[in-house]
Amino acid sequence: MQKTILITGATDGIGLETSKALVDLGHKLLLHGRNPAKLEAVSKAFSSLTAGADTENYVADLSDMAEVKALAKAVAEKHAKLDVLINNAGVYSAPEPITKDGLDVRFAVNTIAPYLLTKRLLPLIESSGRVINLSSAAQAPVDPQALVGRVRLPDGAAYAQSKLALTMWSRSMALSLSDDSPAIIAVNPRSMLGSKMVKEAYGVAGGDLRIGADILCRAALSDEFADASGRYFDNDTGQFASPHPDALNTPKREAIVRVIEAVLAEIIQ
Ligand SMILES: NC(=O)c1ccc[n+]([C@@H]2O[C@H](COP(=O)([O-])OP(=O)(O)OC[C@H]3O[C@@H](n4cnc5c(N)ncnc54)[C@H](OP(=O)(O)O)[C@@H]3O)[C@@H](O)[C@H]2O)c1
Repeated sequence: MQKTILITGATDGIGLETSKALVDLGHKLLLHGRNPAKLEAVSKAFSSLTAGADTENYVADLSDMAEVKALAKAVAEKHAKLDVLINNAGVYSAPEPITKDGLDVRFAVNTIAPYLLTKRLLPLIESSGRVINLSSAAQAPVDPQALVGRVRLPDGAAYAQSKLALTMWSRSMALSLSDDSPAIIAVNPRSMLGSKMVKEAYGVAGGDLRIGADILCRAALSDEFADASGRYFDNDTGQFASPHPDALNTPKREAIVRVIEAVLAEIIQ
């Protein structure tokens, strides 16, 4: 059966490869990108590669929470129901690491934007649906002052903290929902896959992006992930695994969620 799937960061790397695979499987893809021309080129390429490709384009800079909010609104205006949300967009380094909201861009794009988007779109996602959050093997204890933009961190530290913060809220949100709610699952797609992020951050070619696309398609669609809400899948080992211990620590998790909520309350009305 055709599913309606929103994927962020569909314009490059793992997101692009995953979108291509899901379009090939006949699903309806709501493709998100920040660059309108790049996004348009992606959907045009899908149309010429796959007969009957069913896609829609959504533009938003996820470092800007007002645009995240507008993205959720635009999706909700067109769709009463979503089956899957894949929070894939992510950033490791940027020429200007401070966003217009005064946040570190890693925490904004990798942690807070997917939290806000998920919160806003959850009412559209059926109980059998899923939210797949792109975590990472890079997970480091989160400094709340860095999360709110008051402490500046080097790229690697900001990235690893943002990914643990995402993994923490994923579990908290999953556990806060009733049994007949969508599953919220954090997935490390496999370390060092050959995207522009990995090339820029580590200066290596990296592995086959289809490995990341395969696991995201499985996480989004297959029965093996149906009862995985709140869990962390580590594709470095190919199994569900323990995330960083802080993601299993309820008081620490709840403290991070409170910080995210406080940041959002300040930024968006
Ligand atoms: N590659 C790996 O080995 C690996 C390992 C673990 C986790 N991950 C995670 O996997 C996800 C995909 O990463 P990737 O490796 O495929 O990297 P990538 O090729 O750099 O793709 C990142 C995607 O996110 C989008 N993006 C970045 N900043 C954005 C912003 N401010 N607003 C909206 N979209 C934005 C990019 O848009 P543009 O196309 O416009 O640049 C691109 O579509 C990330 O969450 C990453 O942390 C990757």
